[in-house]
Amino acid sequence: MKGVILAGGLGTRLRPLTLVTNKHLLPIYDRPMIYYPIQCLLNAGIKEILIVTGGEHAGDFLKLLKNGKQLGIDRLGYAYQEGEGGIADALKLAEDFADRDKVCVILGDNIIQGNIRKAAGDFFTQSSGAKVILKKVPDPERFGVAMLDGDRITSIVEKPADPQSDLAVTGIYFYDADVFDVAQTLKPSDRGELEITDVNNYYLDRGDLTWDVLDGWWTDAGTLESLYRAATFCADGGANHLELPVEAAVSK
Ligand code: G1P
Repeated sequence: MKGVILAGGLGTRLRPLTLVTNKHLLPIYDRPMIYYPIQCLLNAGIKEILIVTGGEHAGDFLKLLKNGKQLGIDRLGYAYQEGEGGIADALKLAEDFADRDKVCVILGDNIIQGNIRKAAGDFFTQSSGAKVILKKVPDPERFGVAMLDGDRITSIVEKPADPQSDLAVTGIYFYDADVFDVAQTLKPSDRGELEITDVNNYYLDRGDLTWDVLDGWWTDAGTLESLYRAATFCADGGANHLELPVEAAVSK
């Protein structure tokens, strides 16, 4: 299975911080934001990773991550997204890298305390389809929200004004190779983007979507409040992602 980190976008909700750098290079406590999704993939045993980014500061990823060897990445690729087509549009750029393998896709501003090893293992043996990772949150209207009936997801709604459940769909997704065909069929949403929720609903309609609930805390870091919360969570420790020694990450 390959890993894809989506690290594009203008980060408008974090201006002025993002006027001079990419959101995913901003510090979260003691390291750049992008280190956390990288560590999440490595902790799950996924060592071939593609970073999809864009904008004016894309070159800074290369300065920071180089070929990824110092972080323990076996193969690090980069793809450049033109424009602001959304998450599912960015994902299209991973097709060649994925090379018909399954992929674990992580939004570059999603940070977790625990790890996704079990979910990754389960998806590895899932014969086809997709898997989403859910988390109970106090503010579901900010996210894709999953409705459950027993063990079955019945629908996923992107940022509902009146959420019918408190289960957010986190920015960690597993897909089979069909995802790239699915992405080609999407139409832009009201915000003018190709939505990852539409991809997930395609698999749901096909009866081929599994889910898991994440242990430990989860946060995004795309707003000033969540950026601050992420730093606080990480500083307070207890996070598996701190398995990576800071010195190893910065000194080589
Ligand atoms: C995106 C997805 C949303 C998901 C969230 C997780 O939202 O569209 O479904 O719950 O990431 O961070 P965005 O960050 O684009 O607002």
